[in-house]
Amino acid sequence: MTHWLLQAAGELPWFRTGLFYKNLHLYGIFVVMATLGGMAIHGMNGGTKQTSRTRAVTGALFGIGMLLVMAGGFGQAARLGLTSTAVFPTWLWLKIGIWVVVGALFALPYRSPALAKPVYYVLPLLGALAAYFAIYHTPS
Ligand code: HEM
Repeated sequence: MTHWLLQAAGELPWFRTGLFYKNLHLYGIFVVMATLGGMAIHGMNGGTKQTSRTRAVTGALFGIGMLLVMAGGFGQAARLGLTSTAVFPTWLWLKIGIWVVVGALFALPYRSPALAKPVYYVLPLLGALAAYFAIYHTPS
């Protein structure tokens, strides 16, 4: 049986294939992690919104990264046959929940050093948890 990532390869344009969605998903994750990690370090060093000279770029990149994670995630879900929220399994909802939490973390680093620190430690763990749900889920 053909692996789902290779299904319809050759029939679909490259930007609609499961492989491309996965790569897009990963790229978005890297952008989000790098951006929020940098913001957290700034905050841990006592930096604020006002003292940041990179606010515009981190804001824009974080937003774009989150959109790519979402687009790549739903794209892969569609290639897995999960085309409607009615058939979304628990692991997928959990990943969407993690995405929402990561989005909320964006508000913390510039508030105070005390809030920036947990972001720096929790963010990679949330990433690992989301990856775990993707890797270990039962076939569906
Ligand atoms: C920050 C949040 C997220 C992280 C860190 C993350 C991480 C990952 C990683 C590392 C993979 C690759 C696993 C592999 O191919 O072996 C993956 C696959 C996947 N992710 Fe995400 N993800 C996140 C959010 C989402 C969201 C919001 C959705 C749905 C809209 C989603 C849906 C999927 C799907 C469907 C797969 C493919 C699963 C499979 O290969 O069977 N993810 N994710």
